[in-house]
Amino acid sequence: MSTPPPGKLGLPELAVKKRRGEKIVMVTAYDSPGARFAEDAGIDILLVGDTAAMVVLGHESTTVPVTVEEMLFLTRTVARVARRPIVVGDMPFGSYEVSDEEAVSNAVRFVKEGGADVVKLEGAGTSVSRAHAIVAAGIPVMGHIGLTPQSATMLGGFKTQGKTAARALELVNEAIELERAGCFSLVLEAVPAAVSARITELLEIPTFGIGGGPGCDGQVLVYHDLLGLTEGHLPRFVKRYANLSAEIRDALTSYAEEVRSGAFPDDEHSYSMDEDELAEFEAALEKQPRIHDLRRLYE
Ligand code: KIV
Repeated sequence: MSTPPPGKLGLPELAVKKRRGEKIVMVTAYDSPGARFAEDAGIDILLVGDTAAMVVLGHESTTVPVTVEEMLFLTRTVARVARRPIVVGDMPFGSYEVSDEEAVSNAVRFVKEGGADVVKLEGAGTSVSRAHAIVAAGIPVMGHIGLTPQSATMLGGFKTQGKTAARALELVNEAIELERAGCFSLVLEAVPAAVSARITELLEIPTFGIGGGPGCDGQVLVYHDLLGLTEGHLPRFVKRYANLSAEIRDALTSYAEEVRSGAFPDDEHSYSMDEDELAEFEAALEKQPRIHDLRRLYE
């Protein structure tokens, strides 16, 4: 991989933060205002998540339909704006399942065409081999276990993972395998807090919880969820820090009312012209033969 641009948060600093017990903050981002706001708020990592399928592209309750091209477009937009935060390109369903070779070639696209600093992929099993191959190609990988939305059907729906001792143990083993494969960090989604805390203690790489409880080294939430832009049912792990959908609706309703009533635009939002220039313009207009033709046309 090439040298990171100046000012970019280095991956080794994440491990240092873990050792010091400093929490690391990640949020999803899909466009340039979102990336700018997150950077201004001092967020460490921007995840261009495949949740874009739902929160940006309007697909219903699944991340599966989003394509590599769509994800590259969004990743490029975020990477163009982000300076300090690490930009994670989330590899969508179908972009890494088939073979290590295809996983590496798509990961390369995320870095070369999307401008991502690192990529993320879901699951263990074959994903361990994919992560290993991508890391060997020089691209850092973030793992993601627990509730992995791309394989929610196999998991029996959007359910908490690791609630039985056997499944919790499986998650521990998956986490260790992904660390050994070279992942630099791991997302734990919808996993009981006690299990995430044990995984976090066992690993040297940082963990990020999304419904993983307070024992993780960092947290990640979906931008639209935490800002109150998502409507309808939200998972238990989402905390809303604002209610922007209500504010946006109010603002758009006021705009529509003012356009219809003529209250907008007023003088304050319009451009004026020097009076003499205006008079000269009107006089010149009267002399234009075309104006008379037009008037005749409408008489
Ligand atoms: O796609 C995404 O936004 C994610 C987060 C939910 C971790 O994977």
